[in-house]
Amino acid sequence: MALVSAKEMLEKAREGKYAVGQFNINNLEWTKSILQTAQELNSPVILGVSEGAGKYMTGFKTVASMVKAMIEELKITVPVALHLDHGTYEGCYKCIEAGFSSIMFDGSHFPIDENIEKTKELVKVCKKKGLSLEAEVGAIGGEEDGVVGKGECADPDECKMIADLGVTMLAAGIGNIHGKYPADWAGLSFETLEAVKNKVGKMPLVLHGGTGIPTEMIKKAISLGVAKINVNTECQLAFQEATRKYIEEGKDLVGKGFDPRKLLTPGAQAIKDTVKEKMEIFGSIGKA
Ligand code: 13P
Repeated sequence: MALVSAKEMLEKAREGKYAVGQFNINNLEWTKSILQTAQELNSPVILGVSEGAGKYMTGFKTVASMVKAMIEELKITVPVALHLDHGTYEGCYKCIEAGFSSIMFDGSHFPIDENIEKTKELVKVCKKKGLSLEAEVGAIGGEEDGVVGKGECADPDECKMIADLGVTMLAAGIGNIHGKYPADWAGLSFETLEAVKNKVGKMPLVLHGGTGIPTEMIKKAISLGVAKINVNTECQLAFQEATRKYIEEGKDLVGKGFDPRKLLTPGAQAIKDTVKEKMEIFGSIGKA
């Protein structure tokens, strides 16, 4: 199946009260593990690519070509969206040109008027090309690509202003942060989420920082309109732990254990296990 926009899968998720996972990719092993798991579990999936990961993989064109070819060669039939995560204004245009099917414009650090202006322009371009567009209000905290922010709570009126521009989905800060949550984290602000939902109506909401949010909070967030949940760090930690174990057990020193196809196998399996666990919690299994 060719890449699809995230619009239809997210509208179905919002109506069906489940969420589609966005799993960020870093390389071939990541992409393959996520695609295979989605196919095995018959779940729609969104592959997220940050600007840093795009650069690491030599550019957005490389990423789009790899993902499209992999979908074909692995005979993936579930809906897959290839999505730019936290894109800059320039990055959005690069991904549109490279053949992504979905983009996020993160204008949350701009004054609201500038966020509106730039989002408005991208809404037009994405509508014309059939791409889904995610916008963000209220910076999501934590560290991503070297940028550290605090977990803000979005202003529901600003969320409505951005939602009314015609974006496909909206990421609103509700005290969530990227990376591991600190021990003294106050938890998600359901008060903010509810207020945002009341303002934006049926618009699918996006929960960033999916790593480490307790299952009950995830389920409550879904019941309040969250239809897309982003997970990145948790796959990285699972990969790291499995790879460390392989090396610490000296398996790379036995026979051809140094071959990357062997060395990276436990990590790839750990990503698959993590994605499966998340899809179970999000409720997207069997919804392709
Ligand atoms: P985590 O790295 O905390 O899972 O967050 C991922 C994310 O929100 C990507 O946009």
